[in-house]
Order: sequence, then structure tokens, then C-alpha cells
Amino acid sequence: KGKAKKAGKLATKSVDRAAVLGAGIMGGGIAYQSAYKGTPIVMKDINNQALDLGLTTAAGILSKLADRGRINAKKMAGVLNNITPTLSYDSVKDVDIVVEAVVENPKVKAAVLAEVESHVSEDAIVTSNTSTISIDLLAQSVKRKDKFCGMHFFNPVHKMPLVEVIRGSETSDETVAAVVAYAAKMGKSPIVVNDCPGFYINRVLFPYFAGFSQLLLEGADFVAVDKVMEKQFGWPMGPAYLLDVVGIDTADHCTGVMSEGFPTRMAKITNDPVSALYQADRLGQKNGGGFFDYGKDKRGKPT
Ligand code: NAI
Repeated sequence: KGKAKKAGKLATKSVDRAAVLGAGIMGGGIAYQSAYKGTPIVMKDINNQALDLGLTTAAGILSKLADRGRINAKKMAGVLNNITPTLSYDSVKDVDIVVEAVVENPKVKAAVLAEVESHVSEDAIVTSNTSTISIDLLAQSVKRKDKFCGMHFFNPVHKMPLVEVIRGSETSDETVAAVVAYAAKMGKSPIVVNDCPGFYINRVLFPYFAGFSQLLLEGADFVAVDKVMEKQFGWPMGPAYLLDVVGIDTADHCTGVMSEGFPTRMAKITNDPVSALYQADRLGQKNGGGFFDYGKDKRGKPT
């Protein structure tokens, strides 16, 4: 450490043990990816059902790899062994980094971040996987602001290479370097971005979703839009299916944050069809139906 300082280099904190808060779509994926790449991770949620779902998701990805002959039973057991599911903060005491991945609600996140900071060691890094909420806003709820930043993964975590590392105005260079190194260790391709609602990718994605909602209000058929975007335009999926994959609840919360952050450019849409689905508890793939209905068929049927 001394030598590195003298040479003017940053001593990058090594992440040997991690924790993720929330075992949902993202938390489960982050736990899997960290464990698969050799960093043990504690996965904390507030209910056992969510923990089971997180573990089942990881086991499902591993089974597919095993079926294709890419991993053996020993590796599979090793990865699952690297994930410690828990309902308590006891096991986060000795982690080097925390990735908060609970619901996209500023108040819930603020409470969870303050809570976890009181349980980890003083030099642990705390990050948030928020999609849209300003890191400086969330930083108000932590004491060690230099050790706080955004670490934004994309869905599905095991497939998407990008991680946005979001630097808040008080985040230290050491913290950014350590989070970038952890993302790289997870096999990801990190970029460092400045703070604002939606950061980089969601500044592009959410105006696209808003454009889609406007089209529907003007009478377009979501099945037709998806078909054109996918089959003719060549994107991997259309907006309706993508919203179902993201989670209608998460998308609706993100839209709210973006319209507050950019009231003119991202003005709230009256009668937004995404909000209507959320009000009807159609949350997308996570509860079996959003724009499409999901039974055993992962691609779903139009509702
Ligand atoms: P989700 O709804 O699948 O999972 C959220 C999990 O958080 C649930 O299991 C819930 O029980 C748990 N939770 C709620 N309060 C908690 C608490 N106090 N302590 C511990 N766990 C708690 O949501 P998802 O999609 O995983 O989103 C999580 C975060 O990741 C959100 O901030 C979201 O914006 C962000 N994100 C979501 C993406 C997506 O495509 N779904 C992509 C990138 C980021």
C-alpha cells in the first residue's frame, strides 16, 4: 500500500466477500454472477420466498450450463455454496462491498442503506443498483459518502456485459476503482458515469418506453409494435416484452423518478398504459402476466 502511494498509484481495495440486499430479479442475478466468478456473496432479503426464488434462479442458470456440458456437478455445487441466503444482517459484518438491490423506491432504499451501513465495517463500500434514482440523493442517507456509489447491472445479469459505476459528488477515487475492479472480476464491462436521474442507459431507454406508451394511447397495438421492432427492425425484443422482463412495477417507479428529474422532457403521461398494468397488479414475467400472459411459455401470449 505504502509503495503504491509513493508511486502515486491508488491502492485498489480488493473485494473478496460481498453482500447483495434483495433477492429479486436483479439481486438473484448479482448473487449468481458474483458466486460464479468466485466471490462469495451473502444474499439478504426480507422474506424466505424471495430467497428461495433467488436460489432457484441461480440453480436454473447452472443447470442450463451443465446440460450444455460447460460446467460439472462440482462447479455447480461450488457456485451455490458461494451464496449465503439470509434474512438477517449478521452475516454482512465482514463483507468488503454491499450491492443494494431492493425495490426502486427512494424511501425504502434510504432506510435500507442507512440500516446496512450500521452493520458493515467502516471501510466497507456500499453501492446501489438503482436504475434511476440520483446517487447524491441516496447518499444523503449514508454517513460514509466517500465509500458510496452506484453499481448498476442490467437484466439478465448473467448475460448483459455492462455495469454502470455511478460516481456521486462525494464518492472517492478509491471507491470508484474498487467497484470497477469488482465488476471486472465478475466478468463485466464497467463504465464510470456521472450522476443524474437515469444515469446513462436509462436516459436513453425510458424516453423510448415513453414513446411506446404514447403510440399505444394513439391506438397502436403492442403486439404489432413488438413484432416490427423485433422481426423487422432486428432488436432482440420489442418494448412490451422488454417491459414485462424488467417488471411493470419497476418500470412504473423508474418512469416516476425520470419525470420528476426531467419534468419537461419526460413529463408524466396521463393514462400511461404501463401505470394501468401496474394498478391492475400485472407486473410482467415476475407474477405471470403483464402485456403478455406467461404460463410455461416464457415468451408469453398477448393479453
Ligand atoms: P424485484 O421486485 O424483483 O426484487 C426486489 C426484492 O427486494 C424483493 O425480493 C423484495 O422482497 C426485496 N426487498 C424489499 N425490501 C427489502 C429490504 N428492506 N431488505 C431486503 N430486501 C428487500 O426487483 P428487481 O427488478 O430485482 O429490482 C431491484 C432494483 O434493481 C431496483 O432498484 C431496480 O430499479 C433495479 N434494477 C432493475 C432492473 C430490472 O430489469 N428489473 C435492471 C437494473 C436495475
